[in-house]
Amino acid sequence: MSLATFSFPTTTLFGAGTLAELPRRLDALRIRRPLLVTDPGLLSTEAFQRLDQTLGSKEQGKSWFLYYGVHPNPVERDVIQAAEAFRAAQCDGVISIGGGSPLDVGKAARLLVRRPGFDLAKFYAEPDWSGLAPFVAVPTTAGTGSEVGRSSVITLGAPKRKSVIFHPQLLAKLVILDPGLSRGLPPKLTAATGADALTHCIESFTCPVFHPMCDGIALEGIRLIVEALPRAWREGDDLDARGKMLVAAAMGGVAFQKDLGVVHSMAHPLSTLCGMHHGLANALCLVAGMKFCAERKPGIYRRVGLACGLDVLKCSDAQADQRAISFIADFLAGLGLNTKLRDHGVKPEHLDALVGQALEDPCHKTNAVPVTREDFANLYREAL
Ligand SMILES: [Fe+2]
Repeated sequence: MSLATFSFPTTTLFGAGTLAELPRRLDALRIRRPLLVTDPGLLSTEAFQRLDQTLGSKEQGKSWFLYYGVHPNPVERDVIQAAEAFRAAQCDGVISIGGGSPLDVGKAARLLVRRPGFDLAKFYAEPDWSGLAPFVAVPTTAGTGSEVGRSSVITLGAPKRKSVIFHPQLLAKLVILDPGLSRGLPPKLTAATGADALTHCIESFTCPVFHPMCDGIALEGIRLIVEALPRAWREGDDLDARGKMLVAAAMGGVAFQKDLGVVHSMAHPLSTLCGMHHGLANALCLVAGMKFCAERKPGIYRRVGLACGLDVLKCSDAQADQRAISFIADFLAGLGLNTKLRDHGVKPEHLDALVGQALEDPCHKTNAVPVTREDFANLYREAL
């Protein structure tokens, strides 16, 4: 029997209006001078204005500071600058608001606050992670699940590569899932981020690690996404759908403490080398990745199909997989996510570099079945 560690420790506030709880919670966490970490696009949103009003103004004696330089696929410089802003203002905690990128930068910046000049690429050799400033995550997208994750995905080094900085101390002390904050998210981003959450749930469920708790969470996450994502995409003000998607994304984030698979290994290089949105990259590779796994491990998607509401309990393994994969393909198409990689600027001449980085990406090491260089080349060609 394999040994395992199960961990679900994050305090999470859920519901429309829960952002109003933030000042009281900051007091409880002894955060008096928080650094807000976000990206430039967030500053003009209703979500940011609400946070601004909730925290109060400097005239009211409130002290909070802002770093808003986070890039869409965050780079090391973002983390360094956020840490510098923290130190310059003598902050005592970090609040990240936005999608996965500000959340990942806010999380990792606390390590550089404690260890100025630290080389993030060598995080695995850091023996002492104690004393990190408390971190509060306020997601405005329902996708990455970074708010409940203990990792931070930052593009490091030359050549550029998405690196996963991992440590339990990176976890947030508090997560606020307020659906009112995500209702301004445009349909395209709603679909792409939701596809990321869906991919987390599917890949973590099928990853061959013994973790029945995560498996249950992943399957319920799939059910919620199938129910709520089309509504959130069609009708952005549907707070019930937005709320279910926020929870489902957090569930995907919890579930993938099991790990991920081949689709994420394909998606990461598409972001670093071709600048593609992470959720979109997953969406465009998901069906190819599922077909690949099902051919080698028949029956792998039967329970995914059941979570999607399909009657696949008694059919053959091959039929169950085929129906689950067709459902996911149609589901993505219904969200406008049935384009090909070439529609987003990926060219045949990119394939060698994409395959090279995908092979080095750690996610496929826990895929349901092994993936070779040739497999990656075929998979990218299929998605191209
Ligand atoms: Fe992801």
